[in-house]
Amino acid sequence: MKDLRAKINDIAKRRGIFWNSYEIYGGVAGFYDYGPIGSLLKKNLLDMWLEDFVYRDGLHLIDSPVIGPEVVYRASGHLEKFTDYMVRCKSCGHAFRVDELISPYVEVPDALSPEDIEKVIRENNIRCPDCNGVLGNVEEFHLMFSTRIGLDKQGFLRPETAQGIFVNFPILYRINREKLPMGIAQIGRAYRNEISPRQGILRQREFNMAEIELFVDPQEDFNADLIEDIPLPLLTMDGVEMKISAREAYEKGIVNGYMAYYMARIMRFLEKIGIDLSRVRFRQHHREELAHYSQDTWDCEILISLGWMEVIGIAYRGAYDLEHHMGHSGVDMRAFRKFKEPRRVRRKRIVPHMEILGPMYKVQAMKIAKAMEEMEPVEGGTLKVEVDGKSYDIPEDAYEIVEEEILLSGERFIPHVVEPSFGIDRLIYAMLEHTYYERPESGYKVMRINPRIAPIKVGVFPLMVKDGLDIRAREILRIIRDAGINGYYDESGSIGRRYARADEIGVPFCITVDYQTLQDNTVTIRDRDSMEQRRVSVDSLAEVVKDLIDGRLPFTSLGK
Ligand code: GLY
Repeated sequence: MKDLRAKINDIAKRRGIFWNSYEIYGGVAGFYDYGPIGSLLKKNLLDMWLEDFVYRDGLHLIDSPVIGPEVVYRASGHLEKFTDYMVRCKSCGHAFRVDELISPYVEVPDALSPEDIEKVIRENNIRCPDCNGVLGNVEEFHLMFSTRIGLDKQGFLRPETAQGIFVNFPILYRINREKLPMGIAQIGRAYRNEISPRQGILRQREFNMAEIELFVDPQEDFNADLIEDIPLPLLTMDGVEMKISAREAYEKGIVNGYMAYYMARIMRFLEKIGIDLSRVRFRQHHREELAHYSQDTWDCEILISLGWMEVIGIAYRGAYDLEHHMGHSGVDMRAFRKFKEPRRVRRKRIVPHMEILGPMYKVQAMKIAKAMEEMEPVEGGTLKVEVDGKSYDIPEDAYEIVEEEILLSGERFIPHVVEPSFGIDRLIYAMLEHTYYERPESGYKVMRINPRIAPIKVGVFPLMVKDGLDIRAREILRIIRDAGINGYYDESGSIGRRYARADEIGVPFCITVDYQTLQDNTVTIRDRDSMEQRRVSVDSLAEVVKDLIDGRLPFTSLGK
């Protein structure tokens, strides 16, 4: 199966899907360029993602900076906790991620403590993969890239796009007219200074994510009717494997309603982009493996030539992020929950005596009084009040505490967050592996990419480069391009070679201009997957191609 990876990487580089960055300077591990084909593949995949997960559910898309000030990542917990374990070779000094070293020996490497890891290394005599030297002790390695903002302000490159959403919660909640659930999506690059990435495009230091933060009221029941009832392959943290319908998984309490909803939606999405669903599973994180912000996480893993690979994570982040940003910023990050019926409650409040405060504090008196009104009443004594960074001791006779009955229409609370987070580069790689095959009769390579995601939709070929066929083919390419369809012209080599070159990068349809074209203005369209051909009039060609790409028109419905 390693062979498959080599084949994909070969096509990727040769045909312009992706390659290791900075090659003229020897390349830098963990950085990849998307080429002319790869860039479009990514764009088209993300367009489909937007349709499936954002537009379909009426979510909002935002776009926030990749650099954030230190306080953001102090609040989010990344500054303190976003680390990996590593070991260095005592002989050659090379560093290695511990989880990759010990994964052949333990089921869930991320669940082990440093002591346990050292034990696994000792007991299995794990040595340096590069020089077979003895490995040193386990060390912690911080994964965030740091930078400077201006002259001297500490900044970090975002390790996830999610924080750009959390810090904007108050603005977004207002824009959403203070309604929950509220889903905010963000697509963009994130950065993790991986210790020594050795898995090509699968482990990058700068990578592409598409994330959704769904803000929910934890007291609201999930509408189970929304969960599509399709089978889910689950692997629980206790190691139990099961195939269970999404709705049943929810009803049995194995996953919560939001998770079940997204799992089903993810299965549909993966199917659409050509992933073989028999090689997909949702694996629940062990408690020790959970990210610092998560209460429960299920990874959507896809089986590729290297084994099971985490591609999408669905985390229940609870109130963690908003609570911490509220604590660090002092800004109210709560939402409002309206009661079904207004509730009558007794409460105490502070009533300032302005006739005393006025002469005492002059122009500041109003501000002090307002701050007092907002305080939780504490019975009797001097009251400490902060206004504009200054502290005031308010004497006991300058206020009183009254008890009253009021009608409350609702209450404030910190919303919980459900986060489906997609690793786009891994998804692209898995899609390439799963859609790749070789034609049995010829050995020619094919990517059976969904036509909507295929970077180039049509190739236009003249049968011969003479008798005006090439001129007509170029005119037809113009018609295709003017209709907004990405096509290209190819006249070199035999028609068979031209089809093969198109198949290798997943071009779903090829148009051939032959002598009949000159007589009756029809061309052949060849379907990549069935290799069948049909004749179509040039007059309706662009419309037909669009319908074929969008799946509105089955190829077989075209006349012979
Ligand atoms: N936001 C999810 C992650 O960083 O993996």
